[in-house]
Amino acid sequence: MQPCCRDGVNHNDLRAMANKKFELKDPSSGKTSELLVRSGTIGPDVVDIGSLTKDHGVFTFDPGFMATASTESKITYIDGDQGVLLYRGYPIEQLAAQSSFIEVAYLLNNGELPNPKRLADFSVSIQRHTMINESLLRMYNGFHYDAHPMAMVSAIVASMSAFYHDSMDINNPRHREIFMHRIIAKLPTIAAAAYKRSVGQPFIYPRNDFDYCSNLLHMYYAVPCEPYHVDPLAAQALDLLLILHADHEQNASTSTVRLAGSTGANPYAAISAGVSALWGPAHGGANEAVLEMLEEIGNVDNIPKFLVQVKDKQSHVRLMGFGHRVYKNFDPRAKIIRDMCYRVLAKMGRTDNPLLELAQRLEEIALKDDYFISRKLYPNVDFYSGIIYSALGIPRSMFTVMFAIARTAGWVAHWQEMISDPAYKIGRPRQLYTGAVKRDYVPIGKRG
Ligand code: ACO
Repeated sequence: MQPCCRDGVNHNDLRAMANKKFELKDPSSGKTSELLVRSGTIGPDVVDIGSLTKDHGVFTFDPGFMATASTESKITYIDGDQGVLLYRGYPIEQLAAQSSFIEVAYLLNNGELPNPKRLADFSVSIQRHTMINESLLRMYNGFHYDAHPMAMVSAIVASMSAFYHDSMDINNPRHREIFMHRIIAKLPTIAAAAYKRSVGQPFIYPRNDFDYCSNLLHMYYAVPCEPYHVDPLAAQALDLLLILHADHEQNASTSTVRLAGSTGANPYAAISAGVSALWGPAHGGANEAVLEMLEEIGNVDNIPKFLVQVKDKQSHVRLMGFGHRVYKNFDPRAKIIRDMCYRVLAKMGRTDNPLLELAQRLEEIALKDDYFISRKLYPNVDFYSGIIYSALGIPRSMFTVMFAIARTAGWVAHWQEMISDPAYKIGRPRQLYTGAVKRDYVPIGKRG
């Protein structure tokens, strides 16, 4: 089966086709069929292959979803060639400069920016849902003392479905809304409890009189025996980091949330699946891996030797924090974070940060290297985020947890979008089977 041209028009130039149809011809049977081309508001068109199996008895084959739009969505738009990222149409640069994480969470989940009253009501509701059930807190003691915080966070999020079944009817819009408020409000508390467990300190209860990030930092660093004052600069920097990480259309963890949620599983189970997917070093775990990599490189003189390893496919070493499936020019979030890194470190009087110097030099060298140029590999959001998290005192094992707190806003928005669509279906991909053909069972005594 080959995609062919209609009226002699290059099939790659689908926009040129007035009737927006893509004609497919099966060379063996000669059978043809038309596939509808669907246009979004911006971005590339998609070919609707819904009738392909029915008409021709074949599936499409696209490992890693390199060329597949898995869903229709109105939440986030990325133009990877131009380095554009829009949440509900608003450029990330404008949101980073003028908005707050809570406002962005509202925007992602409701589609529009809130007016002052709606924002105030939403903030108060989030502030009032910060506590978690005491039994959930006791579960932390069951984890091994050196458990990774992401292991604890994914387990506790999944366990929440055992506590909040009063409002888990996924078909009830009010229940979905309560879930959205609960999960956004409680993630910092769940994360802080994981951190306190890992350092052996007593849990610090949330402060509902604090803003989202000040409360988060307070729960991390306060101890019961003395007062702790949150540095407003740290809270502000953290808020910006959360905005930048809040959503990124159909990335691996968001697609995982959608797939798990498409079975009708409860939303805590779906978000917990997203936390697990985020943990991988090719995704959210990259921020932790970047710092490990920088420390391993050690100093600027070792960069060339390290890059030789990166270019050697047998070594399986990657330049962590570089490359992106969608961004092939630059990641706009990386630009904002790099600028913020300088500003925050300067304000904190920590400009002599050796890891920042090393990262800058590594970026400079890589961006001039043909290996990275030819593959369009640029720094992604996580190249600098670890450095700024460390400057804010966040321990390395908590970096990916910080990402999870931010991305929860996007995960819930996508889950809600999917569940509220009356036409949603269980996500069930097919495969190209290359295993053994049918054969008879051989009793053990007859096997050689
Ligand atoms: N270092 C070295 N080589 C790389 C890197 C890298 N970081 N990223 C991609 N490449 C190379 C690949 O080896 C491949 O080379 P080849 O064509 O010679 O075989 C080519 O670039 C294409 O790479 P793919 O892995 O096919 O690209 P893909 O889109 O599947 O992967 C990914 C994207 C996973 C982000 C990849 O660039 C990567 O592993 N980066 C490092 C991890 C990282 O920073 N992840 C965070 C991503 S952002 C986020 O999730 C928040």
